[in-house]
Amino acid sequence: MFRLQPPLPDDYSTATADELTRHVVAARSRLGKRLVILGHHYQREEVIQFADMRGDSFGLSRFAAEQRDAEFVVFCGVHFMAESADILTGSHQQVILPDLNAGCSMADMADLDGVEQIWDELAEVTDIEAIVPITYMNSAAALKAFVGRNSGSVCTSSNARPVLRWALGLDEGGKAAALGHGPGTSSRRPRGRDKVLFFPDQHLGRNTGFQLGYDASDMQVVDPRQRLGGLQDYEVKEATLLLWKGHCSVHQRFRTDHVAAFRSEHPGGIVIVHPECSREVVELADQVGSTDYIISAIDDAPAGSTIAVGTEIHLVERLAREHPDKTVLSLDPIVCPCSTMFRIDLPHLAWVLDGLLEGEVRNRIVVDEATAADARVALERMLAIA
Ligand code: 13P
Ligand code: SF4
Repeated sequence: MFRLQPPLPDDYSTATADELTRHVVAARSRLGKRLVILGHHYQREEVIQFADMRGDSFGLSRFAAEQRDAEFVVFCGVHFMAESADILTGSHQQVILPDLNAGCSMADMADLDGVEQIWDELAEVTDIEAIVPITYMNSAAALKAFVGRNSGSVCTSSNARPVLRWALGLDEGGKAAALGHGPGTSSRRPRGRDKVLFFPDQHLGRNTGFQLGYDASDMQVVDPRQRLGGLQDYEVKEATLLLWKGHCSVHQRFRTDHVAAFRSEHPGGIVIVHPECSREVVELADQVGSTDYIISAIDDAPAGSTIAVGTEIHLVERLAREHPDKTVLSLDPIVCPCSTMFRIDLPHLAWVLDGLLEGEVRNRIVVDEATAADARVALERMLAIA
């Protein structure tokens, strides 16, 4: 989605890092508890050094919901994260995204019109009441609202498993339990619902489905450019997981030959990847998890380990610096930044903070109340499940 960020005044583009740092430090000290700065793990060092809280998208959304005292929440991340923070914070609070062009190409792969169209087409061939819509956090507020209106939930990469279990009425035993081969189904199962429409990231949906014991025959990819997602009626009826054809351009770069090359160069090395990577890569990895999970896994790895990480390069480089006793490498030797996360830089951070000191709220992210009310249902459901 195109959003216009006006160019910054020249003072900011020509200022040195030291000058900009002084602006940020002064603004933080003058605003005190009125200001909270949140930083996603993919942010660059010049920005994340100022974050009051660093986290993955789940941790930051939970933290944002708890910040009842802060008047201003400056979100160093991408647009969908700032929208979620606006939905979860109170009406006395204002959420700011330092660069309005910091979107997410994956989130833009599903929009409300597209999802409603597929939903209507699914309703023509199957019982729509049996489908639970689940949207990944990486989606516009309008999609979270759609999910809230249709008794679904949001999920993030750190809680996709419990959210899918909730949606499909599974307990810890996953699919086997649901079929009566395991310890039994949970009483929390939404009545009569046995199918999920998962958007926009097919990979997170597929990887989570496999973790729960489903296989490829239980899943179908829904291509929003085709009628009924390009599926036959029977394919819709027989599938448990309908996976929207979206992906992350950063994580899709990791390939199985990267894993093979790493393993041949570092026998005994550990491969940890984000669940936005393809199924084939996840299958070959030793561990898979959200950005927070990756950080803990590297903390826990024994000194002397060599670890290849399949996620955004700023996080990988930070982990390498913070763990001099371990060798932490990018799984893809060619650097792989998230270009939209990268848009948040020191000049933009200084510019929005200076605005607050001057009494001007720049780049406020506001979700309209009707959308926010429905989206809040889906977000709060996620927070209650996980
Ligand atoms: P996390 O949920 O792990 O923070 O990931 C968000 C994201 O955008 C990954 O590409
Ligand atoms: Fe979106 Fe991928 Fe960037 Fe995450 S890494 S914000 S999914 S484009």
